Amino acid sequence: MKRIAVLVSGGGTNLQALLDAEQSGVIKSGKIVAVVASKPGVYALERAKNAGVASTVISRKEFDSAEAFNHALCAYMQSMQIDLIVLAGYLSIVGGELLSAYQNRIINIHPSLIPSFCGDGFYGLRVHQAALDYGVKVTGATVHFVNEITDGGKIILQKAVEVQDGDTAETLQKRVMEEAEWKILPQAVELFCSGKLN
Ligand code: GRF
Repeated sequence: MKRIAVLVSGGGTNLQALLDAEQSGVIKSGKIVAVVASKPGVYALERAKNAGVASTVISRKEFDSAEAFNHALCAYMQSMQIDLIVLAGYLSIVGGELLSAYQNRIINIHPSLIPSFCGDGFYGLRVHQAALDYGVKVTGATVHFVNEITDGGKIILQKAVEVQDGDTAETLQKRVMEEAEWKILPQAVELFCSGKLN
């Protein structure tokens, strides 16, 4: 049974999808044993508490350098004997020691079809506003491995979602979350935990 840590920064709807997938048996080869928030007070921490999952806050601004921040994250993951790190609506940049210690064991969900609308500065509603501004008819979500390039790691799963007339960034974000993110992230986690992603 693989031990999973989920890193969060906000509402935690992707975390909730993972917790629900564990309950329903969609995720059966792994167990979420830790939630790490990038700042205190985010609702994702409430979700962890309600699910009885250990949680902690490791905030970049508590540290003098990116190196110290990544070292703290890495030390926590090792103390919890984590096998897979899932970035779920996580807004801090991970790098350095954590990336090398957990190479090909960190995955991220991005709310577009990479390589469109991704990279530095593309997060949250901005991603969907960029898709609307461009006028794409189809967007979606991508689960990918995390490497030193923002949203640059090997793609694991993608799911397309139609853009509808009259969509706003908010309505599009909601559809992409419901129809894509909350489906492919649990699927990707189970693929990893059951050894199907080499
Ligand atoms: C959303 O913008 C979602 O598309 C992206 O992260 C943000 C918040 O996700 N993956 P969550 O509700 O905190 O999981």
